Amino acid sequence: MALRLGDTAPNFKAQTTAGEIDFYEYLGNGWGILFSHPADYTPVCTTELGKTALLKDEFAKRNVKVLAVSVDPIDKHEGWVKDINETQNATVNFPLIADPERKVAELYDMIHPNASATATVRSLFVIGPDKLVKLMITYPASTGRNFVEVLRVIDSLQLTANYSVATPADWKAGEDVIVVPTVTTEDAVKKFPKGVKIVKPYLRYTPQPDL
Ligand code: BEZ
Repeated sequence: MALRLGDTAPNFKAQTTAGEIDFYEYLGNGWGILFSHPADYTPVCTTELGKTALLKDEFAKRNVKVLAVSVDPIDKHEGWVKDINETQNATVNFPLIADPERKVAELYDMIHPNASATATVRSLFVIGPDKLVKLMITYPASTGRNFVEVLRVIDSLQLTANYSVATPADWKAGEDVIVVPTVTTEDAVKKFPKGVKIVKPYLRYTPQPDL
């Protein structure tokens, strides 16, 4: 059955460009991203992996480990990584899973037969330190993902995990956040010393608590 938000992310062992990896061991106690690529030596994937590599410091700052998967073998990955580094002015600094038997692709339901019988779509999972699935996004092969948006969602997820706040539409880091409905206004006033702006009893804003 397909994974859903809140499900436990299945563990696996896989061959990668950084040797054999146990997914949970690789993640450790931090956050993780597992994302699929339709195939090696394809243009959109080349830009996506380059962009992810260039955002290395942003992922590290958020304690997020990145792991990519493509259903091609390891020798193909190694040649492709050289091309990515060359064309994207990047150094791919995270492992790529070689998944020719599609074990990881199937475990995470990354092949959508009505899109392609053989290649994965662009699936992306954010996994929390508790190994639960926090975010799933699915893009078609022809649309490259927006990794700035991925970072924005991770910021939101981490604020929710650490401070019981949610983020409004189009929120960007530094803007006010929303007090979650499960926190009473009385508690919110104590919990958020920077202030609580009550627009409606159910719509309460507070400055981003970790700044
Ligand atoms: C790509 O991965 O670059 C790609 C895949 C399918 C259609 C278009 C682009």
